[in-house]
Amino acid sequence: MFSFIYSIFVSFVNLVVQKKLRGMICIFVLLSVIILPTSCERNPYKQGKLLYENFCQNCHQENGEALLGLIPPLKNSDYLRQHQTDIPCIVRHGLKGEIIVNNLPYDHEMPANPTFSEIEIANVINYINNAWGNRYGYVSYDEVKANLKECD
Ligand code: HEC
Repeated sequence: MFSFIYSIFVSFVNLVVQKKLRGMICIFVLLSVIILPTSCERNPYKQGKLLYENFCQNCHQENGEALLGLIPPLKNSDYLRQHQTDIPCIVRHGLKGEIIVNNLPYDHEMPANPTFSEIEIANVINYINNAWGNRYGYVSYDEVKANLKECD
């Protein structure tokens, strides 16, 4: 009699444990379905974007588009695409004098960013090179350093 009750008790405990386990497995699977994609979502331009927002966006705007013939566009800019090796110096020292961007002249002054490190310059360039549908490739820290030798 006792062993009968005991075996019922054990199978009941087993059931509860199994159900609990099943519940836990379900929760685990659910959680991983929710957490995995978000934790794998990476933003390689995080610092570049932040720098852009703080140091460039006032003029070049959130969408990188031209502003009234005063500020040239970065989005879809032939100048940016064709002058990749000059961009580190432009970011560090600014730019003045007439330039032609997408067949339109611009002649206003862009300020320097003397506080930017080489890595920050690379990050902000990689952001503008790949934001707004731009696909102008990537610059490495070493390339930026080499390019800066032209103007430092
Ligand atoms: C005060 C406004 C201002 C700020 C801030 C500014 N720029 Fe500019 N930028 C300009 C102007 C004006 C020109 C055109 C200069 C000229 O006419 O010689 C320019 C030109 C450029 C160009 C080359 C032309 C083109 O459109 O492709 C790039 C690249 C550029 N800026 C990137 C940046 C980045 C990156 C930052 C932030 C680190 C920045 N600018 C901050 C005003 C600004």
